[in-house]
Amino acid sequence: MRKKVTVIGAGNVGATLAHRIVDKQLADVALIDILEGVPQGKGLDLLEAGPIEGYDVKIKGTNDYADTANSDVVVMTAGFPRKPGMSRDDLLKANYAVVKAAIEQAAKYSPNAILIVVTNPLDAMVQTAYRVSGFPKNRVIGMAGVLDSARYRTFLAEALNVSVQDVEGLVLGGHGDTMVPVPSYTTIAGVPVAQLLPKETLDKIIDRTRKGGAEIVNLLKTGSAFYAPSAAVVQMIDAIFNDRKKVLPCAAFLEGEYGINGLFVGVPVKLGANGIEEIVQIKLTPEEQAELEKSAAAVKELVEIIGV
Ligand code: APR
Repeated sequence: MRKKVTVIGAGNVGATLAHRIVDKQLADVALIDILEGVPQGKGLDLLEAGPIEGYDVKIKGTNDYADTANSDVVVMTAGFPRKPGMSRDDLLKANYAVVKAAIEQAAKYSPNAILIVVTNPLDAMVQTAYRVSGFPKNRVIGMAGVLDSARYRTFLAEALNVSVQDVEGLVLGGHGDTMVPVPSYTTIAGVPVAQLLPKETLDKIIDRTRKGGAEIVNLLKTGSAFYAPSAAVVQMIDAIFNDRKKVLPCAAFLEGEYGINGLFVGVPVKLGANGIEEIVQIKLTPEEQAELEKSAAAVKELVEIIGV
């Protein structure tokens, strides 16, 4: 039996994600949105690409959660995107209502699914999904660290003129202006980045990474990033479906790890068939630990506003 993924939201992130999933033949896809006709039209269009691309996976666009039943993974992308000048946090209250309504339905029809949340402000929305679904913490994951790390790695590869495949780098913390790129674990083909780049250049790259989402919003003017975010989700689904035990930075519910309690914050986790199978605890420098705590405090503020 093929796996099944539900993608909630047939907008830029959701439709691009559905495209990537069927292209890689990772799973059948249910694409759901409140707009009538849009998920159906995009779903049918993707299905009709099957004979050309050679995939047999099925994709169904729908407005009815019954069609999402028994999904192995549910990805939450629905919500309002960020407009220029708007911070991720401005989206808080509007997207809280969207996530609550959608996850209630999705969890009812797919009680054993692993939830991956993309909707911003990410950390508060994944915490909402955790509370609303009642799922165990290993089955509720926030996508942010993979994307933020990919941006960081892109800029590093560009600055050093090396393959992106040679660049390893972690970005931890909340998915916002307080995110924490971790230079002490950034390597180029195994060589610590501090040996290859002057501090000033690295600081500029860290700053650009923190503002990476806003940079795209300012260019697009009518929406936010979707190619890299959808690619990040696919990497997470691939790790889960293939039980890779892959260590990736994701938002996970912490209960004491990294000195943080009762909050979703981006940390390295081991992703496998059971979702988050381990929170990987790495040693941080005192500065990095302080930045992580500051970032967690920013997440806590949002979570308290919506009472999750
Ligand atoms: N249920 C289902 N779908 C909904 C709901 C809802 N309650 N409310 C809104 N939607 C749908 C919209 O109809 C739209 O098709 O969510 C989709 C969002 O698509 P876009 O506006 O294109 O936004 P997108 O770029 O995909 O971003 C979605 O991901 O990266 C984050 O910050 C981003 O929070 C935003 C989310």
